[in-house]
Amino acid sequence: MHERKPFVGGNWKMNTNRTTSADLTRAVVDGLARVEGVEVAVYPPFPYLLAVRSILRDRSSSIRMGAQNAYHRPDGAYTGEISIEMLKDCGATTVLVGHSERRHVIGEQDELINAKVRAVLEAGLECVLCVGETIEEREAGHTDPVNQRQVRAGLADVPGDWVNRLVLAYEPVWAIGTGKTATPDDAQDVHRKLRQLVSGLYGPEIAARTRIIYGGSVKPSNAAELFAQPDIDGGLIGGASLKPEDFVGIVKAAATT
Ligand code: 13P
Repeated sequence: MHERKPFVGGNWKMNTNRTTSADLTRAVVDGLARVEGVEVAVYPPFPYLLAVRSILRDRSSSIRMGAQNAYHRPDGAYTGEISIEMLKDCGATTVLVGHSERRHVIGEQDELINAKVRAVLEAGLECVLCVGETIEEREAGHTDPVNQRQVRAGLADVPGDWVNRLVLAYEPVWAIGTGKTATPDDAQDVHRKLRQLVSGLYGPEIAARTRIIYGGSVKPSNAAELFAQPDIDGGLIGGASLKPEDFVGIVKAAATT
């Protein structure tokens, strides 16, 4: 049995428009109206944050809203970047940091990711730190060292009393958007080792409280089996979070495990 409340995030990535982001928000709110026992967050694109926030507020929804990225500097000449205070101002309470697309498409490195993790946590927001190995790294037998390096680097100089606002997301790069999902056993193995690492860094109590969620082609049909694993505390959902009935089905799977 999990003592940790499951967490399911819907990462909309660079999808939706003004109309469909609002429609999706309303459909998810309606679909989850009677679902309890899961913390749910949606991560819309920046331009739609305020509108999504206003729908969630109008409907008194407990669904939280977050940002897919943030810049760690408080203000200044950083053309095109978005500060954490701006996100707070728009109602975001959670931020994704180090998503595989930021690492591998945009080119973010461990040092920048660490600066972002520290800035998000220091600002009092929740940080979802994403880690995961590529297919080449997995086939070379480097799954564990890669994930451990990304977590260690991401959490460098993060004090233990900030870690209650941290969620770790294990998202194997080869499983993202590919339809290939890690087997529940393989995912559990990585999650267990990540929890051991958190225990080594911050002690067993903090490790036992820290949620570690899985991402990569999660669907209603495979969610329950993944979430039933002892160290898998929910999921970060990409493609399926754009389909309200699928996202609702996944959240319900988390509610019953
Ligand atoms: P998919 O669910 O589309 O594989 O994406 C996972 C992901 O990257 C969530 O952040």
